[in-house]
This record gives sequence, C-alpha cells and structure tokens, in this order.
Amino acid sequence: MSAVRFDPGSPLAGTLRPPPDKSISHRAALLAAMADGESVLSGFLDSADTRSTLDAVQALGAEVAVGEGEAPGALEVRVRGIGLPGPGERAGSEPTAIDVGNAGTLLRLLPGWLAGQEAGEWRLDGDESIRRRPVDRIADPLRLMGAHVECRDGRLPPLEVRGASLSGISYKLPVPSAQVKSCVLLAGLLADGETEVIEPAPSRDHTERMLSAAGVGVRADTPGPGLTVRGELPARRITLRPVAALQPTGFDVPGDFSSAAFFIVAALVVPRSRVRIEGVGLNPTRVGLLGILNRMGAAIEVEEGIPVGGEPRGTVDARSSPLRGTRVAAGETPLAIDELPLVALAGCFAEGETVVTGAKELRHKESDRIATVVDAVRALGGDAEALDDGFAVRGVGGLRGGRMSSHRDHRLAMLGAIAGLASRDGVEVEGMDAAAVSYPGFERDLRSLAASG
Ligand code: S3P
Repeated sequence: MSAVRFDPGSPLAGTLRPPPDKSISHRAALLAAMADGESVLSGFLDSADTRSTLDAVQALGAEVAVGEGEAPGALEVRVRGIGLPGPGERAGSEPTAIDVGNAGTLLRLLPGWLAGQEAGEWRLDGDESIRRRPVDRIADPLRLMGAHVECRDGRLPPLEVRGASLSGISYKLPVPSAQVKSCVLLAGLLADGETEVIEPAPSRDHTERMLSAAGVGVRADTPGPGLTVRGELPARRITLRPVAALQPTGFDVPGDFSSAAFFIVAALVVPRSRVRIEGVGLNPTRVGLLGILNRMGAAIEVEEGIPVGGEPRGTVDARSSPLRGTRVAAGETPLAIDELPLVALAGCFAEGETVVTGAKELRHKESDRIATVVDAVRALGGDAEALDDGFAVRGVGGLRGGRMSSHRDHRLAMLGAIAGLASRDGVEVEGMDAAAVSYPGFERDLRSLAASG
C-alpha cells in the first residue's frame, strides 16, 4: 500500500476547477443507456467508479464511445441507449455478470432498471469493500414492487436480479438515502401505476432533475403532517408514472461539490490560505456543508452562476478563518453526508465542541466512517469520540500530525492529505491511491495550490 507524506509549510492559493460530479456522472450514464437514441455527456468524471458504470451499461448492450474531455479529469462520452426494455430484450439464457467494482451508487441504482425487465437475470458483484455494503435497503422496496431479488445472507452483494413485472408502490424510506430513492424511482419507470417515495428529510435530487430532463413527469412536494415519517422532520414526497421511453440528452456535468469540499475546508484550516473554486455544482441538496461551515464562522463567499441542465453551478471563495464548534442535527446530515468527515476535521481547528448526530448512515459507506474518522483524528493528536449515530470533536487548536490509514476509503485519504498541510508535523497517509475512486488528480491539484501559496 502506498504511503504519501503531506507536510505543512505553505498556504494554499489559487483557482481550481474540481473534477466532474460523481453522482451526476453515474446517473447520466445510466439514463443515457436507458434512453432511445444517442446522448452526449460532456464533462463526465474519469474515475474508477464511473468507469465501472460505463462498463456496466456496455455489458447490458449500450454502445459507449469515450473521448478526451475539455478539462483535466473529464471525459466526453457518447452513449447509444438500448431503451427501457433493452436489457431484457438482449438477455441470454445465462445470468449476465455485472462488475460494479467499488461503486456503491451503481450497485444501488442499476437494479432499479433491471428489476422490471420482461426477461433476463443479472448478477451484480464487486470488490471486497463493496461486498460489505448493505443492499437489503434496495431489495426490500423492490420486492414490495414484485421484483425477484436475492442477496448474500439476505443483505449483502452479490445481488441477483431476475426480470419480473412490477407494480408501483408508495414507499417510506426508513433512512434518507438518495441511492434507495433513485432505485425505487427507476423501477417505477417500468412498473404498473404510480410510484411514490417519501423521504424523512430531503436527500440529493439529481435523479429527479435528470428524469425530468429526459421527459418523465416527476413531482416533488412536501406532504402534510399526516405523512411525515418519524413525525419530526419535514418529509419530501416524489411521485412518478411509468413512461414508454426516455429521451436522450446532451448533458454537461458540473464540478463535484464533494471534491471541492476538501479544498474549501483546506483553505479554512491551512493558515493564510485563499482558494477560489469555479464551475462547481451548487445544487441545494448537496451543499449542506456550506451552512454548517457558515455557523462555524468560516469566511466563504458563494456566487451562483447560470444553471446548466437543471443543475445550479457557480463559484466558491474560501479563506482561512478562526472557527467555532457547532451542532449538526439529523435533518441536515443527508445534505452533507459525504462531507461530514470534513466537519470533524474543521472541528479540530475550532474553538469548543463540534457534534454531529443523526448520521448513522456513515457506518455504511466505503468504510465505517464514524469509526475511521474518529480513529484518524485521534491518530493525528485530535480529541474525538464516536457516538452511536455520529461523533463529537473537541477543538484542540489544530492537529499534531502522524500516520493514518485511508482504510481504502477515497474520502479519508483526501482528508488525511488536508490534515497534513494544516498540521504541526505533517501526516503520512497510507493508501493514498484510494483517492482515484472519485478524484484521480487530487494530489496534483492540492500540491499545485500549495506551490502557488
Ligand atoms: C449518493 C448518495 C449518498 C452518498 C454517495 C452517493 C448518490 O449515499 O453518500 O456517495 O449518488 O446517490 P446514500 O444514498 O446511501 O446516502
């Protein structure tokens, strides 16, 4: 496993365009494969995870042509879709193997499309870490719709899907999860009648936006008090009706806020830094971190540009700032789910305590992110405690540094790198190559900002 050192010394300065959005790239490839005709996806993320999605749609019969994109880390992808019933029409008598690699979003979304096929059987499997990620969360609602789905020990991959005829359902998500919501909505495209998903708190809504752009009538509203899931949070209801076909689209993927978030927090905690991030997606269901950092006293300015393809995008300018602790509650966590480890890092540099609750979902990511973040903070001289559904960090005026492991989780590897630049003695990150799962050029971009500072 590669170990890479990140030492303090220079502020971060300059302008950066983050790599294309991973969530949107996965969805763009899937919806393009589901459409009738050719879609052109520009600014598609070139990463291990999104390559898995391109391979998967090719295995189903879609034609995929990959070219260089304009920006570094971006591809221009042309997909000739096979139509909604395409996988079933092309299925052979043997199950088709789909290798999802490390891509949880592919693992959870694709079965939604496959479940309603007239014929065929598919077996989704991936690497060692994906085999630990629960899939009963999608198997349960799909079965309620009439799907034939099997998983190992009733909850883990490999996941086998056999085509079946589906009926629309009204499904209350037990936890807010954009992946589960998206899976049920995709299944609803091939089901009989209306499909409704009620989420306890809003989660990222790219699927809804992109389905609308592909010609599907998707409705989102806030149900009355009688329909709240736990009776405490504002629920959201998304409804759609089946369609005969999806329209192909030309889609331009915005920069990934979740990747930009590392540089935003880096600018705050590395002394004398100022970083400007351009072309970044600013979908309100993704930028919960900005609200949290704002409460912590961060000097961040946001300029909203013109939305492209229904997805807002713009510029974020962040400067080193003295921070104070904050509390992050359950309703906020889905809007910042992948950024919560960075809240822990910011908390180490803040005055007072930073507490995140209502984030049990963090235990089901590439690693158990509650345990691994708390371990990392402690290994680097910080003061953190794991809670059942989150963590608490007491600000200790910074971090000493040391050695930490990424646990093969790309977000932890990047967090370690930022911690190193902001620490007193530097950090050695074991497994830094994991960053390539979502951000292959991360180290290059970080070092170039440090060189300009
Ligand atoms: C994602 C949803 C989130 C997020 C993941 C990507 C998506 O997962 O953590 O990185 O693209 O829909 P959950 O739906 O499990 O919260």
